[in-house]
Amino acid sequence: MSPEGSVEGGSEGRMKIQNLKKVFNPKSVAIVGASAEPAKVGYQVLNNVLKNGFKGKIYPINKKAKEILGVPCYPSLMDCPTDIDFAVIAVPAPMVEGVLKECVQKNVKGTVIITSGFSEIGKKKEEQALKDIADKNDIALLGPNTFGFVYTPANLNASFGPTNVAPGKIAFVSQSGALAISLMGWTMMEKIGLAAVVSLGNKADIGEKELIEYFNDDPNVSVILIYMEGIKDGRQFMTTRVKKPVVMLKSGTSQRGAQAAASHTGSLSGSDKIYTAAFRQLGMMRAKTFTQAFGAASVLSMPLPTGDETLIITNGGGIGVSATDECENAGIKLLEDPLLLEEKFRSTMPEFGSTKNPIDVTGGGGCDSYRKAVHIALVEDKIKSVIVLYCETAVTDPVEVAQAIVEEYNAVKRNKPIVVTMVGGERSRHAIQILNENQIPGMTEVREAVGGLKALYTWKEISSRPKEKAKTPEIPAKALEVIERVRQEGRTFLLEHESREALEACGVPMPKWGFATTADEAVKIADKTQMYPVAMKIASVDIIHKSDVGGVILNIKNADEMRAKFNQMMETVGKNAPKAKLLGVNLCQMVDGLQCIVGMNQDPQFGPAVMFGLGGIFVEVLKDVSFRIVPFSEGEATRLVGEIKAKKLLDGYRGQGAHKESIIKTLMAIQKIAAHVKEVDINPLITNKDGSFAVDARIII
Ligand code: ACO
Repeated sequence: MSPEGSVEGGSEGRMKIQNLKKVFNPKSVAIVGASAEPAKVGYQVLNNVLKNGFKGKIYPINKKAKEILGVPCYPSLMDCPTDIDFAVIAVPAPMVEGVLKECVQKNVKGTVIITSGFSEIGKKKEEQALKDIADKNDIALLGPNTFGFVYTPANLNASFGPTNVAPGKIAFVSQSGALAISLMGWTMMEKIGLAAVVSLGNKADIGEKELIEYFNDDPNVSVILIYMEGIKDGRQFMTTRVKKPVVMLKSGTSQRGAQAAASHTGSLSGSDKIYTAAFRQLGMMRAKTFTQAFGAASVLSMPLPTGDETLIITNGGGIGVSATDECENAGIKLLEDPLLLEEKFRSTMPEFGSTKNPIDVTGGGGCDSYRKAVHIALVEDKIKSVIVLYCETAVTDPVEVAQAIVEEYNAVKRNKPIVVTMVGGERSRHAIQILNENQIPGMTEVREAVGGLKALYTWKEISSRPKEKAKTPEIPAKALEVIERVRQEGRTFLLEHESREALEACGVPMPKWGFATTADEAVKIADKTQMYPVAMKIASVDIIHKSDVGGVILNIKNADEMRAKFNQMMETVGKNAPKAKLLGVNLCQMVDGLQCIVGMNQDPQFGPAVMFGLGGIFVEVLKDVSFRIVPFSEGEATRLVGEIKAKKLLDGYRGQGAHKESIIKTLMAIQKIAAHVKEVDINPLITNKDGSFAVDARIII
């Protein structure tokens, strides 16, 4: 799948991505800085490589030692008898560049530099020198300042983190080394299987994009989970090709982004919203907590559902209701077919059980009830996904229930998604571990199980999107001409009529409008275009807040009124702002409808980003706006319009509806100007059943 709206990526870095194979599947590994002292990092790395049963050649490099942990050592890489695929570098910072140069001599194509003391302490030049060597020689370089990585399919633990990792299908990539180490321990405890754990460190070379693209084609990986604090180059990140589900756990918001946001539109573009936009646009899913992220990743390793109908099986009414609520909130559809459910499930429960969805086998229903109900749910064609809930009771052993679920699931060859929540004490915890060990997502919270299933349905939708490449559209000559004229005059902003000219040339839908320098001209324009009722606004480069000086008059109904109001405005504004040069008035037809806001500003990391939301209270108080990064496709613009919280108003509520086609047209049109100006603010864009209209427009260059 190539998600809609992603930016086209270049061929640069392709070789590096290919060479990551030498990192994760090397035939030979050198550990430069291997030590016989157990307290040292070099000892821990060698020990982990040995203990995990890596099958390739191992070359510990140590200046003095003859052997460490029973493996013969070499004084330098140059002394190794053969070329080497991959090197772990764990020597002090001043020595790293020299070692990397030796790597080049030995044809090493993958390295992980564990050593700290580079850009994270301001030594950017030293780090750049490593990057330059790696680039020149197509070496895939992880780090520096990383704890290494683990790749379970190759039994390779090239880290100084924990020794043991449960094998599985999730690739976990982390910008934080400490978090990755601790989560390795946690996943081990929960028995959540991992294909890879990669600590990114300073990301001098290999970052999230390269790893996602590598794991895209790795059959041992089915889901990629990324913990991210920030992206160095947002534009480059937007070229990431996403073929497998990616779960993003992102913390931290950029202060710089917020500072750079100046105008009304800008102040809303807190960079976290931009990250959300970037993830959505690339077809990635975002999690809020690590339990949610791992929960979703576990469910995303399941087969995709072939339809929407979900069945809940429970032994407790309360937990069943809670799951029903969660499903409704998440938009997961529960199967409604009372006759079928009664016919199929009645025999699985005592008389007082319920065959409505949730299927309630009751507290009296034992392990056999679960086994039978799960079996029926798995083989019944009308049921497309299954949620199993279990509350610990004295009469049923949760471990037996878990084992029964595993057996039934394996018997049907894992044919549809199933998620399980088990609530209880020690025994339930053990039961969850059994499920996880058998690649059936087991959780302690209903919300996580349902959230995981929701992620799977979301991925199903994402992966079925049509391929549609987004390219930055050309700016029309007329729009460029207006902008250049203003620039040459030394101004940093366009007047309203200039903004309208530029945006109209791009295809932004306008109400009837005009610019007049005299009362006669105003009447002529309004009469000719049948513009009444009209809003009149003063045009002056010296006046920012027009209404404060009497420069806005609404609802002018006819020619006589127009003439009178024109003269009145000139007089009032002249008095209130005596130094301002008055250029004329903007005329605009009054339009009724739902107020929206459309904006564009420049994000420091991601470049031009377009914002959409409802105007008025929705934008001011609720900040109900969403973004996309330029360029984006029409499909992406449609999703942008559909994701604001107040979307029901757009669908038509109490007679007010929106003209979505023209909103989408506006979002597409505004992209044409994005590379040429700093900010665009269309506030409001009024939409009604006939169309959408840029009632006010402002451009800053
Ligand atoms: N060739 C061969 N052997 C060498 C070379 C070389 N060029 N240079 C050093 N060695 C040997 C040393 O002699 C030593 O072996 P010995 O124990 O037999 O004497 C071994 O390699 C290690 O070198 P030391 O100088 O002892 O370095 P030390 O192990 O103390 O530290 C390290 C090296 C670990 C790379 C350190 O500089 C460092 O950066 N530590 C921080 C690592 C880190 O925290 N990374 C971030 C992880 S993320 C997280 O933790 C959350």
